[in-house]
Amino acid sequence: MIDMHIHILPGMDDGSQSMEESLDMARRAVADGVKAVVATPHVMAGLYNNSKEKILDAVQELRSQLQVHNIPLEVYPGAEYMLDPEIPRLLKECHALTLYDSGKYLLVEFPTADIPVYAVQIFFEIALQGVTPIIVHPERNGKFMEDPEKLLPFIERGALCQCTAGSLTGLFGSRVRQVAVDYLLDGCYHFVSSDAHGTGGRSPVLSEAYRVAEEYSAGLGELLTMDNPACLLQGRALMRPPVVDRQVDKGKLGFWSRLWRKKITATR
Ligand SMILES: [Fe+2]
Repeated sequence: MIDMHIHILPGMDDGSQSMEESLDMARRAVADGVKAVVATPHVMAGLYNNSKEKILDAVQELRSQLQVHNIPLEVYPGAEYMLDPEIPRLLKECHALTLYDSGKYLLVEFPTADIPVYAVQIFFEIALQGVTPIIVHPERNGKFMEDPEKLLPFIERGALCQCTAGSLTGLFGSRVRQVAVDYLLDGCYHFVSSDAHGTGGRSPVLSEAYRVAEEYSAGLGELLTMDNPACLLQGRALMRPPVVDRQVDKGKLGFWSRLWRKKITATR
């Protein structure tokens, strides 16, 4: 598996606080079946001012330490950007760090309890520069949890979504799990990643979420944790996630749920 969202670089944010902890996270990921990670520290104005150069240097340092300690984990550069009107300018001036530093995909995080009014405009401006924004864990945002259909305008404009593994396994509670499963079955996610911050509760484990996705649809776990992250790494076109037929729940879907499903299916 490839974990494309992990806070494994030491001392950059609220993730790993030391090289020792980073190496423990790496060992845990390898033990879970992860062969590569994209290190994605927070970039948040005023709180985590991690520059592209600083992240690239930290990735090199971690790679050397992994080699010294014989830990077979590949590490690639990336970052998790808090939604900010400055992002398009950073991209334009080549100061933003895209996934794998490939200039093609950018991880974007929404504030925990808000969908800012300027969000759609920023996504539009990011896309104008040939970069595809990937919304991380929409299922954990308060507004999307209240009304999951608010994700539609972003998907319609070409944004992709990445689910946190723990959301599917119930780590963040039943409501987050329900929203995550709904998005999963509606084909909204292209990726599942750990978003691990250490070796405790939010650890680098993907296998449990892989199994949950496989139980809903054979091959889905593989697509989200292996195939699509690999496509992204190799610069190949991503595979479209399936819309999973909800045999059991279909009769229980209300009018708005059916309308949402129709609309979301049309964007696939
Ligand atoms: Fe994160």
